[in-house]
Formats: sequence, C-alpha cells, structure tokens
Amino acid sequence: MLPKLIVVQVEGCNFSGFFDVHEFEKPNDERALNLMNACALAVLEEFPDIVFAYGFRDEYSFIFKKDTKFYQRRASKMNSLVVSFFTSVYIIKWKDFFVEKDMRFQPSFKSRVICCATVEVLQTYISWRQRACHVENLYNTCFWMLIKHGKSKKEAKEMMEGTQKQEQNEILFQLFGVNYKNIPSIFRQGSCALKTEVEDIVKYKENGTPVKRLKRKVILTHSENVSARSFWNVHSCLHKELGHFERDISKIKPDYIKSFQFENNLMPSTWIVIRVDGCHFHRFSEVHEFEKPNDEQALNLMNSCAVAVVEEFNDIVFSYGVSDEYSFVLKKNSCFYERHASEIVSAIVSFFSSAYVMKWKLYFAQKELKYPPYFDGRAVCYPSSDILLDYLAWRQVDCHINNQYNTCFWMLVKSGKSKSEAQNFLKGTQTQEKNELLTQFAIDYNTLPLMFRQGTSVFWDKGRPFNPAC
Ligand code: GTP
Ligand code: MG
Repeated sequence: MLPKLIVVQVEGCNFSGFFDVHEFEKPNDERALNLMNACALAVLEEFPDIVFAYGFRDEYSFIFKKDTKFYQRRASKMNSLVVSFFTSVYIIKWKDFFVEKDMRFQPSFKSRVICCATVEVLQTYISWRQRACHVENLYNTCFWMLIKHGKSKKEAKEMMEGTQKQEQNEILFQLFGVNYKNIPSIFRQGSCALKTEVEDIVKYKENGTPVKRLKRKVILTHSENVSARSFWNVHSCLHKELGHFERDISKIKPDYIKSFQFENNLMPSTWIVIRVDGCHFHRFSEVHEFEKPNDEQALNLMNSCAVAVVEEFNDIVFSYGVSDEYSFVLKKNSCFYERHASEIVSAIVSFFSSAYVMKWKLYFAQKELKYPPYFDGRAVCYPSSDILLDYLAWRQVDCHINNQYNTCFWMLVKSGKSKSEAQNFLKGTQTQEKNELLTQFAIDYNTLPLMFRQGTSVFWDKGRPFNPAC
C-alpha cells in the first residue's frame, strides 16, 4: 500500500554449493561479485521504477521509487519479475566474467518483498544489510586467512569463537600483517547501483553550441556508509525518489529487524499452485520468430524446464503447461520454505527462468537469445481436490479455446486476410464453426498434435497416474 517503500531482496539458493562447484575464491571472489553487480545494473536499466540497489555476497536489495505504480504494486509480480530477470541475466552474462569456466551447476535465486513504512525504516534496513556485509566479511577474512596458513576448519572456527570485531582486526594485523581497511572496498562495503542524472549532448546548434539534456544513467559505486546522510542526500535521484535521510543511525532496534523478516504464509493443508507465466512473451515470440500459432521447439523448451523444476522440487506432485505458462502443484501437506509464499514462488520462478536460458541452445541451436526472457509467478491455494481439478480444467479449457482460435486466425492470415479482417471474421464464432472453417483449409482440428490442443502435463511416473484424492 502507498506510501510504503518497496524493497525486493534477492538471494542465491544454495550458493555455497554453487561457489564450491565453480571453485570461487574464498572469502571473496571478485569476478563473482562483479557478475552480481552487472546483474543489478541490468535490473535498474530494465525496470525504470527501481532507483537504488545494494548488494554483497550473493544478495541484492532493489528499491522502487516511493510512488511506483509498477503492476499496481502487486507484491508477487514485483518480486517474481525482479528475481526472474536477475536470474536470466546472471546466466547470460556468466561468460563475460568466467571466460574459462563452464557453468556446471544451475544457479537460482529466491526473493521476498520488504515494505518500509517510512524512509527512516528504509534507512535502517540499508544500514542493517551493510552491517551484515561488514560483520560477515571481517569474520570470513580472518577465518580463511587461518585456513590458508595451515589451520583446519575446526581449529579456525574454535579460534574465532566469541571474538569481537576488534579482536578479529587484531588477528588479521598481528598474525598476518593485514590491515583490514586496505582490503578492497567491494569486499568490505558491498556495492550500490543507483540512477543519477548526467548532462547529455543531444545535438549542436548551427553556431556550434551544444544542446544539453539531463539523462538518467545507472552507476555502480561503493561507500563506507550507505545509510549515512552524507552519502544519500548528495544523490538527487535518491532523495527525490525515496526521501531525505534526516539523521544518521547509531543503533538498530531489534524490532525493526524482526519486521523485515516477516513472511506471508500459505494456508496449511491446501494444495499450493504456483503459476509461472512468460512476461511480454508476445514480443519475445515475435523477436525470436516463433512459429505461429505454435512453435514446437518453444513448447518443448518450456516442457523441459518444467521437467527440471519437478525434478528439483520434491514437493511438486503435478504440473500442467500451455503456451508461455506452467502451473506447478505442491502437495497439500508441503512444508517447503515453511509455506512462505514469496520464497516458494520466487525459488520456482527463478529456477524455471534459469533452466529456460541454460537450455535455450538445446532447442534453438541456430537462434541467438536476443535478450533475457523472464517470468512472473503467483501462488494460489486450493482447499479441496475438486477445486484443484477445476483449476486444472480451467487452464486446459483456456488452452483449447486459445489454440483453436489461434489456429483459425493464422490460417486466415496466411490465406491473405489482414489481422483485423481475421479478427472480425472470427468474432462470435463457436467451436463447431471454427472446426468447419479449418476443414476448408483441409485441416482436421482433432488430428493436430496433442501438445498443441491439450497442453502438457509433467509428473513422476510411479506406475500410476496422478490422483489428487490420494
Ligand atoms: P504478459 O504475460 O501479460 O506479460 O503478456 P504476454 O505477452 O506474455 O501474453 P500472454 O501471456 O497473455 O500470452 C502468451 C503469448 O506468448 C501469446 O499471446 C503469444 O503471442 C506468445 N506465444 C506463446 N507460445 C507461442 C508459440 O508457440 N508461438 C508463438 N508464435 N507465440 C507464442
Ligand atoms: Mg505471458
């Protein structure tokens, strides 16, 4: 609700495993952080309403301008679109940073929305995240120094136990001659992506004087204290779009932090359906020249992503997909992410997006992926098996209606009608009339591929079909 400030916090899923598989440097891998930063910059470019981002390790927080109307401020949309786009970019840009390393483990992220009632709360949130960066990094720097100098993980842990910042600084300095302050700021302070206004020369007048215009530019920066007035209030975009910081923060009240960790739970003992839907796929399918009305390879790619999702998330018992959407059904008693809506939705949407980009070349060997595809996601709970079946039937009826309409529409267009003529021609026609129209083009609708007419189901074959009554 207005006037709250909206933060989407994205975080790697099982990134310790991902870091190990790719042998990232410890405690900090500069290239991995640069890749995260490149993704954050891309998010700010893609979504005009996001004006600021702060990140460290495998985490990034994105902040929308205060009066944003992005998708009517619907949390699930904002959350899933950001995490999905971030994921796609992460995979697409991987090779720019790791030329010699193949991606051997499919990365994915989860995310949640955090609402800040006032700009002071936002300031506290940013301060909390930057403190977490500092505390973790100082600890990890010491810990890995001890390991590099011969200690076992157990010994290093024991040495570090109960140490405060001051003692950790001393360990670094006295044992290893390292002054923590000289460690690169990207490690110690994290990174900020923000929008600034720069003067841009748009043209020159006849007399040679330049005509200038203020243009928004996304920049990356590091700062000792992001929540300080001295940082925030000098960036006009930040205080214009988010508000001024009135005073500096010295201490964070634990109550604030608890409110940031608030999660929306899905009703217990209900079927959870997560529906993933391609964002602006009308355009995406045009740009990538998908066959009309159905592109078999594009559908096979969607299906293969659904298989990957079903294999990854044990609690998914069934899934159904058509066109650019897929619905995943989680078992009634699932405790996945303690039934936290945003985490479940984001983890599945992100994993699906990740699979889509990684598998693209398998299905479109000759086609370049021209820009990052992304998906939105939502969660709906269905209390009974009957209602769940109604839901699935509704999606399948939609598949049939759309497919039959689109098959007729594109046949009319291929036969020479304009798009608006084809639209008018089909207005008000029923199934029977559409089937008859297709017979004029020598098409028997009922013999078209099942996948086009009925969509696709993905589930584990345990020797018996899915039965929601069980
Ligand atoms: P939002 O989901 O609201 O962002 O819009 P969208 O553009 O993704 O449209 P929507 O999800 O309502 O519909 C999916 C669109 O994807 C269709 O209208 C088609 O334009 C396109 N699409 C999906 N599958 C295919 C395909 O196999 N071939 C072609 N040519 N287009 C497809
Ligand atoms: Mg769509």
